[in-house]
Formats: sequence, structure tokens, C-alpha cells
Amino acid sequence: MFDSVQTAAHDENRQGEAFRPFGSDPNGYRKKFYIESYGCAMNFADSEIVASILHDNGFGATPNYEEADLVLLNTCSIREKAEQTVRNRLHLFRQAKRNRPGMLIGVLGCMAERLKAKFLEQERLVDMVVGPDAYRTLPGLIEEAGTGQKAVNVLLSRDETYADISPVRLGSNGITAFVSIMRGCNNMCSFCVVPFTRGRERSRDAVSIVRECMDLYNRGFREVTLLGQNVDSYYWTSEEFPEQTGMQQTEPVTFAKLLEQVALIAPSLRVRFSTSHPKDITDEVLYTMAKYENICKSIHLPVQSGSTRILQLMNRTYTREWYKAKIDRILEIIPGCGLSSDIIAGFCTETEEDHRDTLSLMEYARYDLSYMYFYSERPGTLAARRYKDDIPEEVKKRRLDEIVRLQRRLSAESNAREVGKTFKVLIEQNSKKSTNDWSGRTSQSKVVVFSKAGTDHRPGDYVTVRIKDCTGGTLLGEII
Ligand code: SAH
Ligand code: SF4
Ligand code: F3S
Repeated sequence: MFDSVQTAAHDENRQGEAFRPFGSDPNGYRKKFYIESYGCAMNFADSEIVASILHDNGFGATPNYEEADLVLLNTCSIREKAEQTVRNRLHLFRQAKRNRPGMLIGVLGCMAERLKAKFLEQERLVDMVVGPDAYRTLPGLIEEAGTGQKAVNVLLSRDETYADISPVRLGSNGITAFVSIMRGCNNMCSFCVVPFTRGRERSRDAVSIVRECMDLYNRGFREVTLLGQNVDSYYWTSEEFPEQTGMQQTEPVTFAKLLEQVALIAPSLRVRFSTSHPKDITDEVLYTMAKYENICKSIHLPVQSGSTRILQLMNRTYTREWYKAKIDRILEIIPGCGLSSDIIAGFCTETEEDHRDTLSLMEYARYDLSYMYFYSERPGTLAARRYKDDIPEEVKKRRLDEIVRLQRRLSAESNAREVGKTFKVLIEQNSKKSTNDWSGRTSQSKVVVFSKAGTDHRPGDYVTVRIKDCTGGTLLGEII
């Protein structure tokens, strides 16, 4: 059945979904590359860094892998299914290579890090294996692979943040963009492979972040999403204070300060962020969100489980009560704040009672949206070493199904509560179903679809929309 499920319309690219760029015009470049990305938003942002490095080295992006000189898969290891999908794609590319012997195939990202040279040696599926901290060495590796040598670089770094590289926006709508603010993760959630594939946590130079956001704004973008596995532990210090960004801190830059600096770029630049670990989000961040209208009132606060016992085994370092108190605090400081979550069903030793705790916590939090998965054991993680993956697959799937059905109801109820209200909506693009309708989002991150008729707005405009109706995942409105 399903490995991961997402309810409610949300145009964020999430774990396990492939994205194929329509890319920049490859004409005018010596060679063509094709890149397909899987996994979290950070991986998608990395593909834009890779595209920038490749552009500088004479490669233009193409949407057709058959005509590419270089085919890259930016991969995800978070669950077994994500890895299986990539393997299937690699077999397909391998066939394409038969018709184009000069074609090089490379694996980037988290699977490259997890499986290292295995791809080259045992499976002979690819020509290059490049880990997430080694993209600067791509040009040299491409050259090596071109001469038939094995090209591998999976070294993790303690300081690489690609701060100076200006990402090439692949398949962008020109309005919303992701901006990486940190890399790696120092948490050790027992189920999670990320600390192993992405290495130590490090924060990117705040000045370069603000500069990138300013540049996006000047190019017409109206929303930035600041990305990190754990944005609330962002922390940066420096001796420099470039005038052009207006950043004058002699003090360290915390996440709250960074948010404020980005919000101050322009009132018409919306700021979002993801992901917050419940243990790290501070009152200072919440007050900063409340203070600036353009910081969107929506928090992705993955709970993973509603049972204190399971949370302990997961090494999440908070309890059910602590999480509930955090939700109360958020809604006290930011009334009406949108909330979303990630949930894992069937973690090691999970009982029916633990599972019911998850369902009841979901009811308490009234999430607008959740990303829901059943537990997939990842080799090398703490959980794989310490606990038995002892919940039968049919039980995992049944519990996941119950979680999904509850979330559908919560999303529908959350949408129904908005009918009759008016919202400021940023127009992002045509709606998926009709070029006669716009699609945009509220500050709380809900998707709104409304007719263009009788107006001459464009993507990037803010409009006031009254909600007339809704489906489970989308609000339907009219411009007023
Ligand atoms: N840094 C983010 C999440 C990164 S991974 C955070 O801490 O919230 C995205 C989501 O994938 C996680 O929140 C979790 O719900 C899910 N996930 C991670 N490892 C998993 C595993 N082994 N099996 C199933 N789901 C998993
Ligand atoms: Fe994984 Fe936990 Fe880090 Fe998120 S915070 S990336 S779940 S280890
Ligand atoms: Fe996947 Fe790596 Fe992101 S494992 S979820 S692509 S950090």
C-alpha cells in the first residue's frame, strides 16, 4: 500500500517525491545535464547549488534525460522505499546509456553517503558517487569519470555550507524559493539516518543568507522558506559587518535574529521556515513571528509520536505533556497559528495504547496537515542497533491508515473553520486544475484557489480573498 501519505494540498516537495526540472535553456552550454531530486526540501535546494556549479562549468539543464551528457539523481535514504525508487530509476538510466555510451550517470545526496562506493563496485550502476558536502568537487569528478575512472567523493565536512554559491532556481514559479540556512543535524533521533548522511550541524553565514533573500526579492520573488533540519538551533558569529545587508550585530545571530533580519528586507517578502524541533523552538522565535506581519503564521512541528514512552525510545527528548504545553504556548503568542506535523506509525514496541496516544495528541493539536509514515528501519541508526523492528507490517499499515483517516478529518475540519473568513493571499501560480483560476496561500500556509475573472493580477501580487467553500485540502474563494 503506501509508505508515506500526505493529506491536504501543499505544494511543498516532500520526502520520496521526484521532481524533474523544466530547467534553464541548455542551448549556449557545451553540454547538457539532467537532474532528478528526491527527499526533503534541503535536497531540492542542494540540486539548485549543483545546477549552479554545473552552469559555471559549461553544463545547461535539460528536462530530457535521453539527451543529457550527465544524468544525476539527488537521492534520499530516509525510508527504504525512497531508496528502492532510486534503484528503479537507475536501471532505466542504465538502459538509456546503452544508446548514448558517453553519458555519465551520477548518484548524489544521502544515498551516496549511505552506500558510498557500493554503487560503483558491486552494482556497477553508476559512474559517479558524490555525497552532500562534496558538490564543489563535481567538475573534477566528472572529468575523472569521463576517462573511465571511478569517481567518488563522500567526505562529510564540518564547515561546508555553500554560502557563496548562488543557486540556480530549477523549475521555479519565480515567486517562492527555498534558502538553506544550515546543514547536517546534531540530534540523534533513534529512527533517523540524517545525522549519518548529512553529518554535523553547521550554520551558514548570516550575511550570505540575507543577501540571497534580498537578491531573490529584487528578482521578483515574494516568499522565502528558510531551511534546515533543525532551524531553531541556527547560531552564527562573525567579525564582519557588511553595510549592504544592514546587519550590524556584534552579538551572535540566533534563529530569531536571522528571521527578523530576513523579515526586515521588505514588508512584501513573506518568510517561512522549516523544520522546527519541538525541543528547540523558543519564545523569542514566537514573539518575532508575532511582531512581523510578513513572517508567516505557520509552524511545522513534527511530533513523531503521542506516547511519552515511544518518544523516549525515539530519543526526541520531550514528553507528550511538554509537546502539548508547547502547542498551548504557540497559540497563546500567535493566535490562529497554522500547525503541521510528521508522524511515524509502528515504531519498535509500539502498543495499541501508544498508538491511541498518537491519535489523541493529533486531536489536541488539530493539525492542518501531517506527513505520515510507517516506521522503516534504517541500517546503522540507534534504533536499528538497539531495538527490534517488532511491529508486523499489517499492524503498521493499519495504524498508519487510522492516522491518515484522522488527519483527513482534521484537515477538512480546519478548512471548514475558514469558510466565511477573509485572508491575504500571495498569488503563486495557475491552479493545477484550470488556467482560469489562481492558486496561492494564506499566511497559515493553506492553499486557496480563486477565479481570475474580472481582475488583472499576476503571480507575486497580494490579494484579499473571501473563502466561500472548501474541499479536504483546498480553500475555494473569491477576490474582494
Ligand atoms: N529534521 C526533521 C525531519 C527530517 S526527516 C525533524 O526533526 O522533524 C522527515 C520525517 O521523516 C521525520 O520527521 C519522520 O517523521 C520521518 N522519518 C524519518 N526517519 C524515518 C524512518 N526510519 N521511518 C519512517 N519515517 C521516518
Ligand atoms: Fe533526523 Fe531528528 Fe535530526 Fe530531524 S532532528 S533530521 S528526525 S535526527
Ligand atoms: Fe532524505 Fe537526506 Fe533529506 S535522507 S529527507 S534527502 S536529508
